[in-house]
Amino acid sequence: MAQQDDVFKKIVSHAKEYGFVFPSSEIYDGLSAVYDYGQNGVELKNNIKRYWWDAMTLLHENIVGIDSAIFMHPTIWKASGHVDAFNDPLIDNRDSKKRYRADVLIEEDIAKLDDKIEKEVAKARKRFGESFDEALFRETNPRIREIKAERDALHERFSQAMNDSNLEELRQIIIDREIVCPISGTRNWTEVRQFNLMFRTEMGSTADGAMSVYLRPETAQGIFVNFLNVQKTGRMRVPFGIAQIGKAFRNEIVARQFIFRMREFEQMEMQFFVRPGTELQWFQTWKEFRLKWHKALGLGDDKYRYHDHEKLAHYANAATDIEFRMPFGFKEVEGIHSRTNFDLSQHEKFSGKNIKYFDPELNESYVPYVIETSIGVDRMFLSVLCSSYEEQQLEGGDKRVVLHLPAPLAPVKCAVMPLVKKDGLPDKAREIVDDLKFDFSTHYDEKDSIGKRYRRQDAIGTPFCITVDHQTLEDNTVTLRERDSMEQTRVSIADLHKLIHNNVSINSLLRKLK
Ligand code: GAP
Repeated sequence: MAQQDDVFKKIVSHAKEYGFVFPSSEIYDGLSAVYDYGQNGVELKNNIKRYWWDAMTLLHENIVGIDSAIFMHPTIWKASGHVDAFNDPLIDNRDSKKRYRADVLIEEDIAKLDDKIEKEVAKARKRFGESFDEALFRETNPRIREIKAERDALHERFSQAMNDSNLEELRQIIIDREIVCPISGTRNWTEVRQFNLMFRTEMGSTADGAMSVYLRPETAQGIFVNFLNVQKTGRMRVPFGIAQIGKAFRNEIVARQFIFRMREFEQMEMQFFVRPGTELQWFQTWKEFRLKWHKALGLGDDKYRYHDHEKLAHYANAATDIEFRMPFGFKEVEGIHSRTNFDLSQHEKFSGKNIKYFDPELNESYVPYVIETSIGVDRMFLSVLCSSYEEQQLEGGDKRVVLHLPAPLAPVKCAVMPLVKKDGLPDKAREIVDDLKFDFSTHYDEKDSIGKRYRRQDAIGTPFCITVDHQTLEDNTVTLRERDSMEQTRVSIADLHKLIHNNVSINSLLRKLK
């Protein structure tokens, strides 16, 4: 674990050093859980968004996009349940004055018991060697059975308390488990209180009677309230979907792990409206399609898993998360939910407007059911960054840090470098840049030794480096160096465009989704 922590720290500092992610307001010592994307980060982020947007809107003729406002009528959040129920249970330690999420403290306690089990298994594996039957050991070893019983009882008690929103019981669990504050080391806890995660602000001047509005905590509601606008003006027929990418805001109590949990972040959400009764088939379809989308990036199929929800929100009839193996464990990157007709019905009720869809094939009106796919851009960014980072030991004792970014997502697609800064090589290199730049993000670099220039590009994940040398002036060929293999091939300038395009276009990813 400590080794993983070190790797994660290195990734965070690499992200800053190479212009991917900066702490927000850094010269004022930062703003907690808010980050800025730098010159390379914004390109990587835009490419992730483009891949998602095209996979939704180009590949599905029944999905269209919108861009709704961040501010919305406050009653929307009453209807959606966010005003009353979008809460986290918080608890303070009186000695350290630190604030925690009560549920997270308990989850961490459960994770400790899981760790204990894994340690026992690892010890036994070492002791018994080849003859070790892990399944049998887990089932029969008295020590493991004891820890597992303790863990399951705790989990059951915790789930019940969360389901009942029983704050006293959450506190009691923390007391009974003797959970201490990691800072003060004491058990001097306050009561547990509900804390609403929405940011509130005022709209209009106070003289006019200002209205309290919220920064949206999800983009989905902007889709629901525009359902009929899009359906009517786009002449859409159920089943159809509406996609949106945009900022969302949550006043997270515990904001940790870099850009994994932020207070201002970005979501890519799609609501797919279907006939009642067909939703579970569509849920399955979207569950599979979304995993395929992730896997097409080639980050490693073993890095993903579904986490099907056993306990569902009262309005949902199926839900799963796509989790990705981050350096700090498997974590949710995307949620896929079958939300029944809850949201549209609530908006009908609160707005007093008819939001029914007339189905010409059935000759009847109904409130459609909805399958939602919801992915965080920043979490996706983090998963791509973490799985791409490698410190490589090279032959001859040399080292390099390389980002094996999927080529279509890389911020810079190719770098053109004159071998030396004289003999007309820079002019020739500029000529190549001036041609490629219309189709690819292209860097020109003539500073430092060629080795150093390659390392700089490796560190930001540039898939190709093109080197112009004296031979180029004679026969219009260059060397094309591939980032991962570091192999160099001599190619004609006339072929560069095609060679690069075949590897770096978003199109090449989209074709894998057929
Ligand atoms: N409309 C459904 C919805 O918002 P969610 O599970 O709360 O569902 C969806 O959020 C996705 O948004 C998550 O899977 C995650 O990728 C991202 N997300 C949620 N909270 C986040 C935060 N504080 N920071 C970064 N990403 C977040």
